[in-house]
Amino acid sequence: MEQLLLERRQSICYKRGDIFRKYLKYGKEENILREKIFSEHFKNLGINTPTFQKYGYSQERHLFYIDYEYKNIKNLDNNDFDKNNLKDVVDIIKTVTTLNYINYYGLSYWYKEYIPSLQTAAKYVDMNYGTHICENIQGLKAKDVSVAMHGDLTFENIGIDRENQKIIIFDFGNAGCSIPYWDIAYLIGSSNLKYSKFLYELSPVKTTILNCILIVSAVRLGRSIRKKEDITEKEKSFIYWSEKNLL
Ligand SMILES: Nc1ncnc2c1ncn2[C@@H]1O[C@H](COP(=O)(O)OP(=O)(O)O)[C@@H](O)[C@H]1O
Ligand SMILES: [Mg+2]
Repeated sequence: MEQLLLERRQSICYKRGDIFRKYLKYGKEENILREKIFSEHFKNLGINTPTFQKYGYSQERHLFYIDYEYKNIKNLDNNDFDKNNLKDVVDIIKTVTTLNYINYYGLSYWYKEYIPSLQTAAKYVDMNYGTHICENIQGLKAKDVSVAMHGDLTFENIGIDRENQKIIIFDFGNAGCSIPYWDIAYLIGSSNLKYSKFLYELSPVKTTILNCILIVSAVRLGRSIRKKEDITEKEKSFIYWSEKNLL
């Protein structure tokens, strides 16, 4: 009845008829609740995202799960998309990332979990740089938290809905509240350079988000170092954004 779709470090996903079910390997109820609240919030803002159905606890697996309507999604990745898709994505995020939204879960999450997790990853970047970036991240705490964020807006969490060829955004597992334009900075800072330069040109707020893009590229690099992955592309991207910040 359950058809295994994919297993990741944090989750296991299944297709159950017309339901997409994601079991969280480590998540607690509050994580699921945040994912539910923000996926519904983004849906209400007009974002094309799979409709949340329910969440629960599996007695059999001893894991929390979240159900969405199953969507036929073509994943975008860093090598396989056209520039019109990039433009659509930026347009979508431009609206979302400036809309006011405050809620208790999101606010405490930003200060107590999200920012510290950025710092943990940035510490893996070369010592001097790492310290500098951690100070920058600390500086985010002084900024005004006033908008909803997806929180992990990379091309791994953006696809094309095969039914209508529209961009679809999923995985609100890291969503919450943040500073304006964080998601755009995140998307740019986590993309391959050949796309991020183009995305940067499309961004409505270029210089304002340069520092955030640098932070994100450092965090992505740090995570790759921690996982002992090939860091060539991420290092290039980090150096590029470091230099651009100095200009
Ligand atoms: N509602 C859905 N229907 C079908 N496939 C989905 C749906 N949501 C996500 N997916 C696919 O499953 C993958 C994992 O989902 P995601 O929510 O990103 O989980 P994770 O938190 O493990 O990254 C996605 O990359 C996407 O291809
Ligand atoms: Mg994902």
